[in-house]
Amino acid sequence: MRAITFLLAALTAAAVAVAQIPDSKPFDLTTPSHDLWRHKKTAAYTVQQSMTFDNVNRRLFIVNRRNGASTTSGDLTISQVDFAGNLLGSMDLLACGHGVNIAAEPVGSDTYIWSETDAAASGYGTALWRFKFENGKTLDPAKDKRERIKPLEKFERGTATIDPVYERFVVRYQYEKSMYIAVWDLDDAVSGNFSSPLVDWKIPNVKDDLGAVTGVNQGYAVYGRYLYILTGESYEASGGKLNSQVLSMDLNTGELVQGPVMTKAGSTLEFREPEGLAIYKTKDGEARLFLGFASGVAGDRRSNLFYKNVLV
Ligand SMILES: *[C@@H]1O[C@H](CO)[C@@H](O)[C@H](O)[C@H]1NC(C)=O
Repeated sequence: MRAITFLLAALTAAAVAVAQIPDSKPFDLTTPSHDLWRHKKTAAYTVQQSMTFDNVNRRLFIVNRRNGASTTSGDLTISQVDFAGNLLGSMDLLACGHGVNIAAEPVGSDTYIWSETDAAASGYGTALWRFKFENGKTLDPAKDKRERIKPLEKFERGTATIDPVYERFVVRYQYEKSMYIAVWDLDDAVSGNFSSPLVDWKIPNVKDDLGAVTGVNQGYAVYGRYLYILTGESYEASGGKLNSQVLSMDLNTGELVQGPVMTKAGSTLEFREPEGLAIYKTKDGEARLFLGFASGVAGDRRSNLFYKNVLV
């Protein structure tokens, strides 16, 4: 019995050793956030859902629910904005998803977006797909037969992001009412090889298990070995209380590294709903963890982006 236990332990250790994300530095979540911008308009006047960077072509995309669409329609608008917040173009996606996250993959001088598609009645996407960002285009899954991607058998619904610095593809997905996180090398994901995720585990409940003030997940991003999660509500939903928090987890162990840390980024914004986390590295080599917030009034919501830039 003891020998078998020992053998199993050795096998488990070996499996863990294979499925490892190389070490890297985490962001210090206790340092203040800096402004990129406030009060910018995207192509939609709804609450932004998330954002993503093409770090090679240095582009920024923000995803909103499409103007006039119901919360369960799955209709999205993806805006391309420059780093000063000027709108450069947009695409519409019909009945695709909620926009919890999107991923921008640089392909030469083009950007390909990985998004949800085939929205369920809930409005959340039931698969992923990948398309070239082309200003002015509308994609309709009912007429578009491009490949649907369900990276894992357990994937019921979910979204993707890319760690643009360490070049990894990340999927957060739902399975039997729990959220999971899985990571692959980007090259493997692009070639459609999802057979061996580097990690794949169940995310603890942020409120009940990790001690966040709210259980409202508002964004996730991965930088190297660490997963970052943003939680919280708008002032409208919280009764005026600032309850936005950020936490980091070690992808190799599932352990909480820091937080939940209260973030006061943009605390004076009207409405201020936390919406989106993303990673970007500047030309000068500064890694940034971006936090998005929606502000303004219904019918005229605005985008606000802040970032943390201290690694420890
Ligand atoms: C799929 O990815 C894994 C992990 O990187 C790799 O070991 C395997 O060789 C790949 N399979 C193919 C068919 O490329």
